Formats: sequence, structure tokens, C-alpha cells
Amino acid sequence: MAMQLIGPSNGFASHCEKILRSLPQWFGIEESLQEYVADAGRYPTFLAVAHEPVAFITVREHFPSSWEVHCIAVDAGHRGTGVGRALHEHVESWLARQGCKVLQVKTLAPSHPSAEYAQTRGFYERLGYVPLEVFPLLWGPHLPVLQCVKHLGHSSGEAPRST
Ligand SMILES: CC(C)(COP(=O)(O)OP(=O)(O)OC[C@H]1O[C@@H](n2cnc3c(N)ncnc32)[C@H](O)[C@@H]1OP(=O)(O)O)[C@@H](O)C(=O)NCCC(=O)NCCS
Repeated sequence: MAMQLIGPSNGFASHCEKILRSLPQWFGIEESLQEYVADAGRYPTFLAVAHEPVAFITVREHFPSSWEVHCIAVDAGHRGTGVGRALHEHVESWLARQGCKVLQVKTLAPSHPSAEYAQTRGFYERLGYVPLEVFPLLWGPHLPVLQCVKHLGHSSGEAPRST
């Protein structure tokens, strides 16, 4: 499938909304869906476009060296075909060029029974994220949050030390 990876932009919100609405098992709460749509219009967002937009990632800068994947979603009909990895890797390269060294993502912790979010955690693990900490109450009661991190490698000119 020929795919274009475009962004960052804050002009993709309506495409993001369509993608989110294809995933009600993950984004079934209208209020939080609307927040993700609004955030796509506020924070740097990247889009994967095949014949139409099929995936997006919104990222947030906490510090120049520390960013967060705020939301990632692949249209339901295109999941499991490599789109998520391709878009994430594209964004990782962009972030590294901005000086990002550590990327984090927050998702539901394994103590939550959701089978869907178990798949999400599998994806993050496969992409090289490491679980860092669980925050039991960050998103409210009964929504334990797992924070995962990924090191984006050494910036140019900073070779790893050999001992
Ligand atoms: C999670 C999501 C972004 C992943 O994108 P995707 O296009 O389906 O994933 P890919 O096909 O690119 O898979 C990338 C890798 O993750 C692995 N992977 C995907 N799901 C997995 C799972 N449930 N368990 C283990 N590995 C998994 C794939 O095998 C693949 O491995 P490889 O590239 O080393 O062969 C997508 O499925 C999605 O939108 N899910 C619903 C929404 C969501 O969970 N968003 C994040 C929470 S906000």
C-alpha cells in the first residue's frame, strides 16, 4: 500500500476525528474523544495517508529532550498492517531531530481488564517501550495508568562511552 506520512500540522483534526470514531472500543467516551480531536488541533500531529487518511499521532513536548505520544490511532480497517509502526518510526525521526531523547506514552495498566488495551500495550512493547511506573489514580478511580518510556538514542556527536 503506497502511503504518505505528513506533518507536523495542527490542521488534521477532522481526519483524526474520523479515525477515532472507527475505534469505539478505545475511544468510546465522547468527551475524551472530543479532547483528542481538540488536541490534534493544538499539538503537533502527523498523518498517514493511503487513498485517504488512515492513521495519526499527536505528540506533546514536556521539555525539549522529553516528549509524549499523546494519541496514536490507526483506522480500524487498517490495523495490524504496519501503519502504526511506520508512522511511529517517522515521528521518532522527527522528534530526534528536535532534540528529543526520551519519549513516553501513557496507557491503561495491565491491572485493568480491557482486552483492547492489552493489544495496545503489546504494540508499545514491540516498538521498544519499557514500562516505567503505574499511577493508580491519574485518570481517575478504576483507570490505572501505565507510563512507558523509550530512549531515542544518542544525538549526533555524542557517541556512547566505551569503558
Ligand atoms: C495500537 C495501534 C496504533 C498499532 O498500530 P497498528 O498499525 O495496528 O500496528 P502495526 O501493524 O504497525 O504493528 C507494529 C508492531 O506491533 C506488533 N503488535 C501489534 N499489536 C500487537 C499485540 N496486540 N501484541 C503484540 N504485538 C503487537 C505487531 O506485530 C508489529 O510488530 P513488528 O512490526 O515487529 O512485526 C493500532 O492498532 C490502534 O490504533 N489501536 C487502537 C487505538 C489504540 O490502541 N491507540 C493507542 C492508545 S491511545
